[in-house]
Amino acid sequence: MTTLINAVVLVTGANGGLGQQFVQQALNRGAAKVYAAARTPRDWGNDRIVPLQLDVTDPTSVRSAADQATDVTVVVNNAGILRRGSLTEGPLADIREQMETNLFGAIHITRDFAPALKAHGGAVINVASVLSWLAIGKGYSVSKAALWAATNAFRLELAPEGVQVLGAYLAFTDTPMNDGMTIPEMNRPADVVNEVYDGLESDAHEVLADETTRTVREGLSSDVGVLYPALRSETTELQR
Ligand SMILES: NC(=O)c1ccc[n+]([C@@H]2O[C@H](COP(=O)([O-])OP(=O)(O)OC[C@H]3O[C@@H](n4cnc5c(N)ncnc54)[C@H](OP(=O)(O)O)[C@@H]3O)[C@@H](O)[C@H]2O)c1
Repeated sequence: MTTLINAVVLVTGANGGLGQQFVQQALNRGAAKVYAAARTPRDWGNDRIVPLQLDVTDPTSVRSAADQATDVTVVVNNAGILRRGSLTEGPLADIREQMETNLFGAIHITRDFAPALKAHGGAVINVASVLSWLAIGKGYSVSKAALWAATNAFRLELAPEGVQVLGAYLAFTDTPMNDGMTIPEMNRPADVVNEVYDGLESDAHEVLADETTRTVREGLSSDVGVLYPALRSETTELQR
């Protein structure tokens, strides 16, 4: 059973809205140390928080972080980006950048920290999204759907080694990622992280942090028209 008491936690994207909560709440739950990893690390004014330079898209940076933080028992793959262009006409570079950060970043971190996690019987949390299961996020959805698959594949490989792999799925949450968007109801980052850590400490495989996410997940077994009402008439047309 994973516990955060005396754990050594590494959080990527630690300066972000959810990242700061992952850092603070790990300490509140008794972690001995938290590596607050960021592209631009900052001083947290707390002896138990160790700032660490880490760009998840840079293999040298990931290797260096893994070499410095060999005592890590819990990795939180939280760093992520959102680009809003369409798959058909938006910049291909934006689609690639999301794959590099949201998918390959998490894969790379998990690979390089796997020896430490295996040695400590540790855990990995991958912060995916409700948009892993709903394509309205376009390129972002593609990257998070792939992260869902990677999370499941890592779990199959690492569970026999005593490493817990937890996928976290959530809908709109009130962080800088959604700055400038008009969204009527958003999760509070503190609530999401609390649910994720509850899932971690109860050995869950997945955390579905809100009702929207649970509804979308259930809809996966239905006809595509259930999740995508705009396609309903075309679906009917195709079925004729
Ligand atoms: N907010 C939502 O509605 C929502 C919903 C579902 C899932 N999520 C996921 O939750 C996670 C956290 O996002 P958030 O909502 O807290 O957004 P956020 O406040 O924008 O935080 C994202 C963090 O990721 C960091 N980051 C981006 N690229 C990076 C890279 N190459 N290397 C290292 N760090 C990098 C950013 O660092 P800089 O400060 O250097 O830019 C930032 O601190 C993401 O994976 C996101 O996809 C968010």
